[in-house]
Amino acid sequence: MVKHSKVTVTLTVNGVQRTAEVEPRTLLVHFLRDELGLTGTHIGCDTSQCGACTVLLNGDAVKSCTVLAVQADGAEVTTVEGLGTLEALHPVQAGFWEKHGLQCGFCTPGVMMAAVALLKQNPNPTEEEIREGLEGVLCRCTGYQNIVRAVQYAAQQLASEGEPGEQVAATGGGA
Ligand code: FES
Ligand code: FES
Repeated sequence: MVKHSKVTVTLTVNGVQRTAEVEPRTLLVHFLRDELGLTGTHIGCDTSQCGACTVLLNGDAVKSCTVLAVQADGAEVTTVEGLGTLEALHPVQAGFWEKHGLQCGFCTPGVMMAAVALLKQNPNPTEEEIREGLEGVLCRCTGYQNIVRAVQYAAQQLASEGEPGEQVAATGGGA
């Protein structure tokens, strides 16, 4: 068996600097889940298609199964655990709660992170723009209608609070 020497990777995850020794082949999604215990980021496929693993990497939505942990060395990552708290939901989380934007919930962390990135780029998206913005994340349950309503709710909330897409809390912790 070929032995891979480990490399040190340091990321800022949900506002907290985290360091771990990983094999060079380690995917970012495995780093988050297995090394840091942030299991809110889901793995739904092995073909880079489902988007359940979507996180923010330096503010952009990426499928964390398509990025090596070493490629993200030095970067800032936000996972669903960094969005809000039970006491103070992020507007996107509040939207999913208010508009019943989930059923089984498996896709939800990825959809939420894609929605946060979308609203940061486009604080007032049309329904079509929401659907386009979330097309990288597949949902097998909802038919997307309530997901769209949840994102519209979040956009209204953010507009009323005057801080479009910037409310990512610096919190850590697993799910
Ligand atoms: S786990 Fe499906 S796209 Fe990453
Ligand atoms: S709520 Fe079940 S996959 Fe989206």
